[in-house]
Amino acid sequence: MQILRTKQDVRNWVREQRDSGKSVGFVPTMGALHEGHKNLMQQAVSQTDSVIVSIFVNPTQFGPNEDYSRYPRTLESDVEIAESVGVKAVFVPDVQEMYVEKQHITFSITALNEHLCGRSRKGHFEGVLQVVNKLFNIVQPDKAFFGKKDIQQCVIIRKMVDELDLPVELVLGETVREKDGLALSSRNRYLSDEQRAIAPHLYQILGACKLEIVNSELVQKALNHALFTAEQVGFRIDYIELVNDSDLQPVQEIIHGKTYILAAAVFLGTTRLIDNIHFTF
Ligand code: PAF
Repeated sequence: MQILRTKQDVRNWVREQRDSGKSVGFVPTMGALHEGHKNLMQQAVSQTDSVIVSIFVNPTQFGPNEDYSRYPRTLESDVEIAESVGVKAVFVPDVQEMYVEKQHITFSITALNEHLCGRSRKGHFEGVLQVVNKLFNIVQPDKAFFGKKDIQQCVIIRKMVDELDLPVELVLGETVREKDGLALSSRNRYLSDEQRAIAPHLYQILGACKLEIVNSELVQKALNHALFTAEQVGFRIDYIELVNDSDLQPVQEIIHGKTYILAAAVFLGTTRLIDNIHFTF
């Protein structure tokens, strides 16, 4: 497997693949790879000929009080994991390779980032679009793979691809979970033993809330129950919301045949956990 440090190295590698008639699959990551990433890389390996993974902790998607500097960086084991599933190249740029000192062009998003994580993480999705757009331009993959745990990210990237006519097919992988239901995340390693024991309640609370919504159709009441239970078990709540999967706007009444996202972000200490259930009523 090749480790590529510059954009030019990636362009040369991609040209070699194309010249030998191979399709290119791309898995963008910030490293600290876990089974969720492994699952995406395996899908990429099975659906395309040559897979490249990027590992870049993107500073523009972190707010000033977020965990950019302490975000886990585990390059050696990341490289081993990628190699073990058949990835052919890893792109590991530094910040100077990706960004000029003063960026004059930025992304702006309307409506899609007003709720869920967009409301409390100002500027986060603009930073995600900026880096994903750059990575798509550098790699120019046939298919790119993202995990549905970051469902708002998936919806916003899909809109970018559609609205800017980017020539890439998106493949969304299901959330991979621990046996007790906790969604895998690079941030789970921050949890103390006590917090780790509380964390699986998040998925259980979402599951119970979805059932109550579907059975009673009383959305606000079900959300209030979920908020109450989440506080009782020890979470500090950022949000628990039900939104449309098309425009990510909150929903008060559900309609048969429509698809919804029930999503939550909570804190245990300083660690922020997110999860969601994507379902059709
Ligand atoms: O989901 C992530 O790990 C990041 O947001 C991404 C897509 C790699 C962009 O930095």
